[in-house]
Parts: sequence; structure tokens; C-alpha cells
Amino acid sequence: MSITTETERNGIQQASNAVAITLKKMRAFARPGISTKELDEYGGELLAEMGARSAPKLTYDFPGYTCISVNEEAAHGVPSADKILEEGDLVNIDVSAELNGFWADNGGSFVLGEDIHGHGRLVETSKEILRKAISNIKGGVKISEIGRLIETEAKKAGYMVIKNLTGHGIGRSLHEEPHEIANYRDRFNTGRFKKNSVVAIETFISTRSTIADTQADGWTLSGNKGGFVAQHEHTIMVTGGQPVIFTSQNGIWD
Ligand code: CO
Ligand code: CO
Repeated sequence: MSITTETERNGIQQASNAVAITLKKMRAFARPGISTKELDEYGGELLAEMGARSAPKLTYDFPGYTCISVNEEAAHGVPSADKILEEGDLVNIDVSAELNGFWADNGGSFVLGEDIHGHGRLVETSKEILRKAISNIKGGVKISEIGRLIETEAKKAGYMVIKNLTGHGIGRSLHEEPHEIANYRDRFNTGRFKKNSVVAIETFISTRSTIADTQADGWTLSGNKGGFVAQHEHTIMVTGGQPVIFTSQNGIWD
């Protein structure tokens, strides 16, 4: 959506606060020994307390309030009572929701507890690439140019990017124009970022795979060649200068 009134801006900010606070608190709640279902139910309660409704549930009838992807899972992991978190796991939590007709989306990967498997550098690289990508977005910038930046930075660090998962416009629904803000230079995408538009920018930095494939459960995505993926995501408003980061309260850059 394009923000034209103060009411719209406040609406997006409220929805963004709900998903950002939920993500931050879920991350703090995560610990070895709990199941991803317990973590998800905690997230669902937080959203409900703030009057927000899970976006994947509303939009796709997803079997969970949030997406929790662990280790080899790249995205859209289904919360499960059988999936118990362990020390050193690479965990991604993605929280998106609707509040009073406005939609916001954010996510972040982190290492649970001590980094015994050495996922830390992948996580830090993804965070820094998101920071760099967002700081280069303003009205008129080509969407494909930001994709090129993300892939170039990933390669510099010795990683690759997932090509079939993308950022997207957001605001009055979960996915809006522009539908694909890719992590590589998509030469067929001639679109540009528009001032006052609301977009969700997300990285998908990978150790081995370039495509995420749907698994047997019909939801979970994993890399086509294995390895690990880190994702970080903010909902922002494009301006003529630095973007407004609506989901800054999630603390993913802290
Ligand atoms: Co998301
Ligand atoms: Co998103």
C-alpha cells in the first residue's frame, strides 16, 4: 500500500509494533527443551493480547500462529509438539499479522544459546545485508538493484541466496505489489521502489542452496541442495531518504 494519511501510517505502525514485540518476546522465550509448538502458542497469545491476528493463519490457513523454522528448514516451518529446540540450533521465527485492517511482517534467524555448530557468521551476515539493503532503498531505486546488492554481499561473504523466496509489498494484505523483491538481480523486474509505499524487505542467505523446495508436510521449505538459510525481515516505508523502519522494535539488529 501507499501511505497517504496519518491514520494509515498509525495503522501500519500499530500492526508493526504487534509483530515486532511478539518476535522479540518469542526470541527471549525460546530455550533448549521447549517445543516449537509451545513457542508458537506463546506468540499466538501475545498477538491476541495486542488485538492482532496471525497473517499466515488468516491468509493461508497455516497450521500455526507463526512460522518457526529450525536448522535445515529454510522457511514456513510448522510449529510442532514433537520438535524440541536444542542448544546451538539455528532458529528462524517469522511473525506477520493483521491489526485493524493493517498488515505487517517481520522475521529473524538466531542461534539458540551457545553457537556450538558455528551458525553465527551466517546469522550476522544476513543481519548486516538486510541493514545495507534497507539503507539503499529510496523512491526511484530499482528493485532489481537491491537484489543485486543482496546477492553481491552474500557472495562476498562466501554465501549464496535463495532465489524463489522474496520480499514483497504489504499493508492492506500480507502480499501486495510489488510482489517480488528478489535477493538477486532479476533482470525481468523493471519495477522501482515508490515513495510512501510499504514493503517487507527480507534476506534469504544460504550456505549451499539457491532454491527452497516444499517438503512432504506441504508447508516447510528446505534448500534444494541442503545447508542452512538465515533470514531477517523488516516492514518499512520508502521515503526520499532513509526508510522508516516500522518493525524496529523487534530488536533483530541489536
Ligand atoms: Co515474514
Ligand atoms: Co515477508
